Amino acid sequence: MWLLALALLPVVFGNVYNQPNPGNANNQPHPGNVAIDEYYDILGTGHKDYRLVFRGTPYIRNSVYTAYQDGSNIPPNVPEACKKIDWNAPCNSHYRNNAALNNWQNVEEVLFGIVYHGALVKILRFHGLGTTYMNWFGRDYYEHSCWEDLKYQTTSYFSIEGDTNLRRRFFINHKYLTCPNDNGWFVAVDQSNSPCPWEKGLPYPIFKFASGPTMAVFNNTPPAKTVKNADAIAVFVKYLPGKADEYFDILGTGKKEWRLAFRGTAGVGASVYSAYINGAGIPSWVEPGCNSTNYYAPCNSHYRNNDALDHWEHIDQVLLGLVYRGEIVKIIIFKGKSTTYTSWLNKNGVLQSCWSDLTTASDNFFSIQGDSSLGRRFFMNHQYDGCPKDAGWLVAVDTPSKPCPWEVKNKYPQFLFAAGPTLENWSTGHVWGADALVVFLKYKCH
Ligand SMILES: *[C@@H]1O[C@H](CO)[C@@H](O)[C@H](O)[C@H]1NC(C)=O
Ligand SMILES: *[C@@H]1O[C@H](CO)[C@@H](O)[C@H](O)[C@H]1NC(C)=O
Repeated sequence: MWLLALALLPVVFGNVYNQPNPGNANNQPHPGNVAIDEYYDILGTGHKDYRLVFRGTPYIRNSVYTAYQDGSNIPPNVPEACKKIDWNAPCNSHYRNNAALNNWQNVEEVLFGIVYHGALVKILRFHGLGTTYMNWFGRDYYEHSCWEDLKYQTTSYFSIEGDTNLRRRFFINHKYLTCPNDNGWFVAVDQSNSPCPWEKGLPYPIFKFASGPTMAVFNNTPPAKTVKNADAIAVFVKYLPGKADEYFDILGTGKKEWRLAFRGTAGVGASVYSAYINGAGIPSWVEPGCNSTNYYAPCNSHYRNNDALDHWEHIDQVLLGLVYRGEIVKIIIFKGKSTTYTSWLNKNGVLQSCWSDLTTASDNFFSIQGDSSLGRRFFMNHQYDGCPKDAGWLVAVDTPSKPCPWEVKNKYPQFLFAAGPTLENWSTGHVWGADALVVFLKYKCH
């Protein structure tokens, strides 16, 4: 078993989503201790990035809803076959991955799979961010499925709870009409004394699904035999890279979707550029204030999330924030696609800016590297014209030897920024020194 597990390591861990930091055993990508054989390549992407968190089995006279909700009705010795996705192997129990369902964190995506005759015949995809293990299955988070009408048709039920009175669970229903005409996409009939003829005749639970490309009448009267009884249902989750507590709700959207990748701290006497590029000068342990968004907490070093910066993949957006007196006061958002961890800060990549002229006014420097000869990094500058006329938006003054009077203010590094809505004259303008410069990443959902 261990040999097998070790043999799988390179395959599974080759994907940044599964194991972002193979060298660091403390940096678990997922909550709790995770057996790697819980992960499967469900969508055929070549990456085993979906974790099996639940499997429901029909006709076993045992509620699939209770099994999913708290597992209280699942016997202690679940057959190994039920914990896997060989759909042909005999399995006579539900399976609940308690470690996964009880620690629903950092979930990027959820898949709901319907198994029929040994294969996953339908896969519904749901957004995972901001969900709980009970509410992801619903209209708000629904992303895609091969039922083409589910996107636009109305649903009278679309939830795991479903119709509590009639115990119709994982229920995606269009309309209740009369029994023979009830129609929808999926239902787990989860009790024995159900009222409608179409849900009788077999031991519960019965998993009924519309087998065609659209909803169907559950009663399934010939010739329209489009509702079938599934052989299993399965729930898989995919996680964001890194740990859940590396993610923050920076823009107040209710979603912790921004992963802290870097923090430069003003006045610590160590180069912010070197710290960003390769972690130079960062102590092995940083204060909690350095890798949280509690900007009042003490922090006396830079912070680099090595895993995030060294595995620059699947990044949708990059957020650069300037912290001043405990708050992020300036935010610029850049494109993440087709960038590297050193190239995203560029003028063409600006998606959103707190300075209205950032992309319209001309620039002489616009990069992380900035002006290497003068140690001006994370540099977004409008013009050089002798020290007194220098003007721009942001500069990390990253060297103790500063040529211009406007940068000789405090200990290095200093993060000087235009405090108003447009660029400022570094000598005479409205220029503040940020306490920290922070970089967050948002990953693509795919
Ligand atoms: C912050 O960094 C420390 C080590 O320097 C680490 O123990 C902790 O887990 C980190 N916290 C987050 C949220 O990354
Ligand atoms: C900055 O201020 C100096 C001194 O007042 C002035 O000569 C220069 O033109 C100003 N530059 C800009 C870009 O406003």
